[in-house]
Amino acid sequence: MTSEYMASEYASPDYTTTATAPSPVLDLRRVCKVYPGSPPVTALHPTDLRVEAGDFLAVVGPSGSGKSTLLNLLGLLDRPTQGSYRLSGTDVATLTERDRAAVRGRRVGFVFQAFHLLPHRTALENVALARLYVTPRGAHRQADAARTLREVGLGHRLDALPSQLSGGERQRVAIARAVVNTPDILLCDEPTGNLDSATAGAVMDLLAELNQAGATIVVITHDPAVAQRARRRVTILDGRLSETACLSEKARLSETAKSGRTAGGPR
Ligand SMILES: Nc1ncnc2c1ncn2[C@@H]1O[C@H](COP(=O)(O)OP(=O)(O)O)[C@@H](O)[C@H]1O
Ligand SMILES: [Mg+2]
Repeated sequence: MTSEYMASEYASPDYTTTATAPSPVLDLRRVCKVYPGSPPVTALHPTDLRVEAGDFLAVVGPSGSGKSTLLNLLGLLDRPTQGSYRLSGTDVATLTERDRAAVRGRRVGFVFQAFHLLPHRTALENVALARLYVTPRGAHRQADAARTLREVGLGHRLDALPSQLSGGERQRVAIARAVVNTPDILLCDEPTGNLDSATAGAVMDLLAELNQAGATIVVITHDPAVAQRARRRVTILDGRLSETACLSEKARLSETAKSGRTAGGPR
């Protein structure tokens, strides 16, 4: 990975605000989500959450606790019932759907459990397509995609179709697609849910590496071993969030070492 590229891109976001003090990447104030119905379901009770640039946060909770609801709100895939949400200093609640889509495309990277790659497109094409609305020149898109795939260790599989890749490799392609636009935030919903534990460890190594290079990451998981890789841990139970750990980098690395996860391994 060429971390200089990643670090410089992340260190100077072009998303400026009028505020002089740096604002958090994510800032939720009393955000809640109630799904209508009879009876209505309160999937997220009023929640405050701030995530600073360069942070690495895990949200852990059992099935049905509200994890995907939270991720959908953070990623502008859904709107809160109440509360305010600022993304990189911008109040995204007041934006039109069209502007929200633009912010989502440029500022947010998504990684899902099921990869969601286009099956008839190569690894290179899957990643290059994410740059479609950012870079008009096809050749530039391809170059950006190839560079990012090399950074995630897939420089030798640019022309492979998803069906020709292992689960871990598919998730690397999905991660490359998520970071090719150098988003303000990388949101991962159960990114290791379809992987065996060794491959999951290698994917978490990659996320940790991206975080070291400056990426701001939120990982949603029900796997404590995955959550252990993050600097901050938040637990969600019945739609209520509570912060359970906030580690120094030293403490985090020592925990990671104890859990036996090391760099490399299966892909
Ligand atoms: N679109 C929806 N309409 C109604 N209820 C929903 C909807 N999506 C999720 N829920 C409910 O909200 C709660 C939280 O769901 P979800 O955020 O998907 O949990 P998790 O991702 O932790 O499994 C659950 O009780 C679920 O049934
Ligand atoms: Mg879910």
